[in-house]
Amino acid sequence: MEIENILVVDDEEAIREVVSTMLESKGYHCAVAHNGRVAQDQIKKATPDLILSDMIMPEMDGIKLLEWVRQYDPDVPVIMVTAIHDISTALEAIRRGAYDYILKPFEKDQLFLGVGRALQHRRLVIDNRNYQIDLEKKVRDRTERLETALDQLERSYDDTLEALGSALDLKDAETEGHCQRVTAFCISIAKTMPVPDQYLPILARAAFLHDIGKMAIPDKILRKPGPLDDAEKVIMRTHCEIGYNTLTRVPFLREAADIVLAHHEFFDGTGYPRGLRGEQVPLAARIISIPNTFDAMLSDWPGGGIQFARG
Ligand SMILES: [Fe+2]
Ligand SMILES: [Fe+2]
Repeated sequence: MEIENILVVDDEEAIREVVSTMLESKGYHCAVAHNGRVAQDQIKKATPDLILSDMIMPEMDGIKLLEWVRQYDPDVPVIMVTAIHDISTALEAIRRGAYDYILKPFEKDQLFLGVGRALQHRRLVIDNRNYQIDLEKKVRDRTERLETALDQLERSYDDTLEALGSALDLKDAETEGHCQRVTAFCISIAKTMPVPDQYLPILARAAFLHDIGKMAIPDKILRKPGPLDDAEKVIMRTHCEIGYNTLTRVPFLREAADIVLAHHEFFDGTGYPRGLRGEQVPLAARIISIPNTFDAMLSDWPGGGIQFARG
């Protein structure tokens, strides 16, 4: 452990000598000052770990020095040294922030006990503060790391979705870019509505993946140039449930899965697969159906208007 520095402030040279000799015999390092003013100068040059100060001194007394130290460095404990008849002043010093007082004439053990306690108190205060600072830093670092990890996770989610979307584009080249366009329109529409911000990523994922179930639709139906017959329509329509079953297994896509299932429901109840009506159709599914239909109308997919039913 480092040697602790104690500043002994007393106008009587004999007392300064006796006290510092006693303390140095115990392994402390002592400096002395003969009044508060001189003590101030020394403290400014090198802050001690503890101050032992007489009460009555010329130029600047113990109480004034104490008040200054409390402002200058509240971590430095001050022990007031006082004569037995002056105990009320010592108590006043305690009220003003002195750590303790010691009565003159000194008893060696009493001095060591008081000094030991004050220094231990200071160490505890400093250790506690360092611990607090360290803890706050750790919390800040970990929060930062967590946020970075969450950002990366979010990005890798989106990369995964991109990959899924591209896989569908590969299979159904005729409708390439459909999911991206529907997503962009959905976000634009949602932003003009009272849709909470936290709903937007769910809407975006659902819009992007709304036709993912088409991965399981046979190519001869998916790419058929003409209108689908009734049996083919039945198969084509299963893409809603297939998409739902695929996505619902992924925890962060569960809400999007419900929307995917409902993306061909119509407000008037004539949609599929469940024939939901009005507000039974999730809001995001109602939003998706607008650009989904619109994009099909603008695209030159084979089959013309029939694509409304296919999209
Ligand atoms: Fe669809
Ligand atoms: Fe679609």
